[in-house]
Amino acid sequence: MAPSYPTCFLLLLSFWALRALAQAPADPLKDFCRRYGHQTAIIDRKLYIDGGWLYANPISRNPTPVINRGLLYNDLDEISDGMPKQHANLTKNSSVPAVAGGTLWEDEVNKVFWLYGGEFQSAPSPFELWGYDVILNQWNLSDAGTAATSPIQRVSYGAGVSVNDIGRGYYYGGYLNNLTNPLWNGPQIATSNLIIFDMEDHKLTNNTGYDNMGRAEGTMVYIPASGAGLLVYFGGVTFPYGNETAVAAPLDTILIYDIGDASWHSQAATGEIPEQRRKFCGGATWAQDRSSYQVYIYGGFGFAENATGFDDVYVLTMPAFEWVKWYPEKPGPGAPHGLLTCNVIENSQMMVMGGNFTNTTECDVPKIQGQHNLNLGQYNRDNAKWFQYLPNVTEYLVPPEILQITGGSPRGGATKKSPSNGWDDNRVATYFGQLAPNSSRTPTRAIPTQTAIPVVPVTPPSKKRNIGAIVGGAVGGVAVLAFAAGLIFFFLRRRRSNQQPQPTPVPTATDYSSVQSPISKYATESKFTVVDPNYTTPVLSPNLSSHSPVHSNAHSQPYSTPPPVQTTQPMYHPAHAPEPIEYYPPPDGSRPNLAHLGSSEMPTIRSPP
Ligand SMILES: *[C@@H]1O[C@H](CO)[C@@H](O)[C@H](O)[C@H]1NC(C)=O
Ligand SMILES: *[C@@H]1O[C@H](CO)[C@@H](O)[C@H](O)[C@H]1NC(C)=O
Ligand SMILES: *[C@@H]1O[C@H](CO)[C@@H](O)[C@H](O)[C@H]1NC(C)=O
Ligand SMILES: *[C@@H]1O[C@H](CO)[C@@H](O)[C@H](O)[C@H]1NC(C)=O
Ligand SMILES: *[C@@H]1O[C@H](CO)[C@@H](O)[C@H](O)[C@H]1NC(C)=O
Ligand SMILES: *[C@@H]1O[C@H](CO)[C@@H](O)[C@H](O)[C@H]1NC(C)=O
Ligand SMILES: *[C@@H]1O[C@H](CO)[C@@H](O)[C@H](O)[C@H]1NC(C)=O
Ligand SMILES: *[C@@H]1O[C@H](CO)[C@@H](O)[C@H](O)[C@H]1NC(C)=O
Ligand SMILES: *[C@@H]1O[C@H](CO)[C@@H](O)[C@H](O)[C@H]1NC(C)=O
Ligand SMILES: *[C@@H]1O[C@H](CO)[C@@H](O)[C@H](O)[C@H]1NC(C)=O
Ligand SMILES: *[C@@H]1O[C@H](CO)[C@@H](O)[C@H](O)[C@H]1NC(C)=O
Repeated sequence: MAPSYPTCFLLLLSFWALRALAQAPADPLKDFCRRYGHQTAIIDRKLYIDGGWLYANPISRNPTPVINRGLLYNDLDEISDGMPKQHANLTKNSSVPAVAGGTLWEDEVNKVFWLYGGEFQSAPSPFELWGYDVILNQWNLSDAGTAATSPIQRVSYGAGVSVNDIGRGYYYGGYLNNLTNPLWNGPQIATSNLIIFDMEDHKLTNNTGYDNMGRAEGTMVYIPASGAGLLVYFGGVTFPYGNETAVAAPLDTILIYDIGDASWHSQAATGEIPEQRRKFCGGATWAQDRSSYQVYIYGGFGFAENATGFDDVYVLTMPAFEWVKWYPEKPGPGAPHGLLTCNVIENSQMMVMGGNFTNTTECDVPKIQGQHNLNLGQYNRDNAKWFQYLPNVTEYLVPPEILQITGGSPRGGATKKSPSNGWDDNRVATYFGQLAPNSSRTPTRAIPTQTAIPVVPVTPPSKKRNIGAIVGGAVGGVAVLAFAAGLIFFFLRRRRSNQQPQPTPVPTATDYSSVQSPISKYATESKFTVVDPNYTTPVLSPNLSSHSPVHSNAHSQPYSTPPPVQTTQPMYHPAHAPEPIEYYPPPDGSRPNLAHLGSSEMPTIRSPP
C-alpha cells in the first residue's frame, strides 16, 4: 500500500525539521561542546552534574541546544588532562525532571542530593522533589510533597544553596512560568520568597524574603559566621514594580539572612564594585580561623551596554564588605559567558564549569568538558589563579590582593573587622563576631562505612530500558499526534530525549547508565549526523583573531574559562595543552613557588593517603 499523502507530507516535514534542529551529544563526554544552565553538587569528592542545556560538537552542525537528561559526575581524585575525569554512567530515568536553572541541595551526611526547581525544555511535569541516592545510584521521590499536597511550586533561576552543617537547603527568589508549572498561564513572575528544605525531616517551607520584591538570577552562598550560619545574596534582577520590568540589582547591596534568627538584613559594600550582572556564579571560602570570609564570583551576563556579559572574577571579602577585581588583571578581550556553575572544593579551589558564550561560536574546551579551575589561594608552582585542578590542595590561603584589605596573614588573623563606611545594621556586626559551630549531624539512614562506600554495588540501578516512559513523559497528550506539527514535535522530542538518533526503536530515554550503550557507536555514522549544508559558521570579528593577553600564559590558559575564541587557529592549541600533572609536590621535592608568602606561612602538603 502506497503511503498516503499526509504521511509523505509529515515525513518531509520531519526530515526538514530534523535537519534544522540539533540533537543531543550522542556521547555525552566525547561529543561535548558546551554545557549551561546545569546544576551541581559535591558529595564524597564527586562533583555531580545534572540537567542543563548541551550543545553537541561540532556546534556548526548542532546549532540548537538540547536539555541534558542524564546525570554525570567528575571524580575529584581522578585526573585527566589536568581536570577531574568525567563519567556518564549514572542512573536517571524519565520520571526525574530534566531541567535547567534549578539547584541540587546536597546532604553529605546522608549521601543524597535533592533536585529542586528548574525549567523543563517544554511541558513541565507537576511538582515533585526527587533525591539522588549516591550510595545506591538511585533516584528516590521524597515524601516532602507533590503538586497535589504541597503549597510549594517549582521555580527557576533563583539562588540555591545547601548547608550541610545543619542539613538544610535554601532557594531564594526565582521565576514561576509555563516551563516550571504545568498549570501556569501568562507571563512569568519572579517570587520574593525563601524556600527552605529541611533535609532531616523532609519538610519544604515557604518563608519570607528580604522584602516583597521578586528576585531572580542572583547568587547566594553560605558562610559559617553567626550562631547558626549566614546566607549572603547579591546580583541578578529585581522586579520592583510587580510587573515584568526587570531592574538590575547593584552589587554594592549585599543581602544577609541569619539562619538562627531567620532574619534578613542588608549591608552596603565598597571597593571595586562589579558591573551589574545576572546568571553568574559564585562560591564562598574563608580564612582558616574564619577571621575573614571571601565570596568569589565569575562571569554572567550584563545589562544595557554590557549585555554580552563578563569573563572576570571579583571577590567580596567580609566583614570588610569590600569588593576586589581579581581577574583579569589588565583589560583585554575576553569570552563573556553566563549560566555556569561554581563549586568550591575543600575551601581552596573553585571549579567554574560550562556557561553559554554570547559572542563566540566556539566550543568550551571539549577535551576537559568545559571545566575550568580557579586556585583560590594561588597555591601552585606558578602562583597562578587559573590552574589545573590539584586534588592535593585542601588548604585555603588568603591571596595577597585580599590581604591588602583584611590585614593578617594567608592563614588568618584578619584585622579589618568592619566595613569602611560602617555597619548599616548592628545585628550584622554581631553576627560577624560569632562562629557557627561545627556540624554534629548524624545520618538518618544506614550509611556503609567510609571504606565500604566505593565498592558497594548495592542494588544496582535498573538499567532496563524504559519503553513508553519517553512517550508518556515527553508529550503531554496523544491527541497532539493528530496534528502534523505535533507529530514533528513528537519526533524531535523523541529524538532528543533519546540521545539516540535512529527513529525506529522505542526510545530508551534518559539514562547514560551503561557505558556499553549502543549510543556512542552511532555518533560517527553520517546517517545520524544531520548536516545542514546551508549552515555557515558565523564569522567572528577580526579583533578576536589575535591571541589575547589573557590567553598568553601557557600554563594557566587551558584552565581558565575563556574557550578557544578563534575559528581557524583554536586557542586550545597543543601549545596550550595541560602539562603532565604529576608535579605536585614537584618531582624534585621542592615546594610550590609561594613567593608571596613569608617562610612561616608555607602551607602544609597533604601526604599521599
Ligand atoms: C561509573 O564508572 C566508574 C569508572 O569506571 C566506576 O568506578 C563506577 O563504579 C561506575 N558507577 C556506576 C554506578 O556504574
Ligand atoms: C532511597 O530508597 C531506598 C529504598 O528503595 C532506601 O533504602 C534509601 O535509604 C533511600 N535513600 C535516601 C537517601 O532516602
Ligand atoms: C524511575 O525510577 C523510580 C525509582 O527510582 C521509579 O519509582 C519510577 O517508576 C521510574 N520511572 C520510570 C518511568 O521508569
Ligand atoms: C511562596 O508563597 C508565596 C505567597 O503565598 C507565593 O506567591 C509563592 O509562589 C510561593 N513560592 C513557591 C516557590 O511556591
Ligand atoms: C509560555 O510563556 C511564554 C512567555 O510568556 C510564551 O511566549 C509561550 O507562548 C508560553 N507557552 C505556552 C505553551 O503557553
Ligand atoms: C511596570 O511598571 C512600571 C511603573 O509603573 C512602568 O514604568 C513599566 O513600564 C511597567 N512595565 C511593564 C512591562 O508593563
Ligand atoms: C557597564 O560597565 C561599566 C564599566 O565596565 C560600568 O561603569 C557600567 O555601570 C555598566 N553598566 C551597567 C548597566 O551595568
Ligand atoms: C566579546 O566580548 C568581549 C568583552 O566584551 C570582548 O572583549 C570581545 O572582543 C568580544 N568578542 C567579539 C567577537 O565581539
Ligand atoms: C547561547 O549562546 C548562543 C550563541 O552562542 C545564543 O544564540 C543563544 O541565544 C544563547 N542562549 C542562551 C540561553 O543564553
Ligand atoms: C597527592 O600527591 C601525591 C604525589 O603526587 C600522589 O601520589 C597522590 O595520589 C595525591 N593524592 C591525591 C588525593 O590526589
Ligand atoms: C571545628 O572542627 C575543627 C576541626 O575539624 C576544629 O579545629 C575546630 O576547632 C572546630 N570548631 C568548633 C567551633 O568546634
